[in-house]
Amino acid sequence: MGTYDFRNKVALVTGAASGIGFAAAKQFAEGGAWIIGVDRNAERMKSLLGALPKNGHPHLAIEKDLRSATAAQEVVPEAVELAGRLDIVVNAAGVCYFTKMQEISVEEFNEVFDVNVRALFLISVAAAEAMDPAKGGRIINLGSNAGRKGRTWSAHYAASKAAVKNITESLALSYGSKNITVNTVCPGPTETPMWDTNFKGLKTLTGKEPQEFWDLWRKQTPLGRVGKPEDVANLICFLASEKGGFINGQEINVCGGFMLTS
Ligand SMILES: NC(=O)c1ccc[n+]([C@@H]2O[C@H](COP(=O)([O-])OP(=O)(O)OC[C@H]3O[C@@H](n4cnc5c(N)ncnc54)[C@H](O)[C@@H]3O)[C@@H](O)[C@H]2O)c1
Repeated sequence: MGTYDFRNKVALVTGAASGIGFAAAKQFAEGGAWIIGVDRNAERMKSLLGALPKNGHPHLAIEKDLRSATAAQEVVPEAVELAGRLDIVVNAAGVCYFTKMQEISVEEFNEVFDVNVRALFLISVAAAEAMDPAKGGRIINLGSNAGRKGRTWSAHYAASKAAVKNITESLALSYGSKNITVNTVCPGPTETPMWDTNFKGLKTLTGKEPQEFWDLWRKQTPLGRVGKPEDVANLICFLASEKGGFINGQEINVCGGFMLTS
């Protein structure tokens, strides 16, 4: 049994094929939950979810490319059809690019907003409508420190994460009366595959190698290390647990002090 009791809970996790999404799915499964993963990387997701504790049901993998609004709208109806209900939703699917403002293409801008914002919005609203007020529900959205301030090299990503904070607040105001809490978790720099893409952009922009950035961020973090996906999953699971039930509409950092709440 994991830290929290998620027995008889159905947890839908987008971005379950990697990084923070998978770390959250793993902790939910260790607490007894039935996982429905959603990702465009179906093979990887199936293989990762297949290795988790089964809890009486094989975990389910829904393959979707969340750049499509139609695909995002299909997620919750398909999940409810498969599992019968939804108790927890984690919106962890996301994309980030480091690109000079004047070089951000319309396609790149749209992808960042379609996945990070529109899919998260569509899935959250559909899930909140589908959740049972008698049982309550939890929605946890992945924001970022990037959403708290503008950025020179990933203006679209920063704006998308500011939108996540705002949408989370609107959802919390709208669905609190249905006994559903909605919160944003903001990781600091966290070692996940997302940085493979990010570092390609940063290398073009700065000529620096990944190790130089990790070293800098370690130095800038009072606790002297960068994040692991499990650090972020720990907060996600607390918020999703019984114990997190009175936290609603908040944006909470997991970053070892790398950034401070403003
Ligand atoms: N890693 C960090 O340092 C960091 C910091 C702040 C915020 N975040 C946020 O945390 C969340 C998870 O990031 P991560 O670091 O685990 O990244 P990751 O790249 O390891 O995982 C993201 C997952 O989203 C999926 N995904 C991307 N585009 C998709 C699409 N169009 N359709 C379906 N699935 C798609 C990917 O296949 C992948 O499995 C993201 O929202 C990210 O912005 C991460």
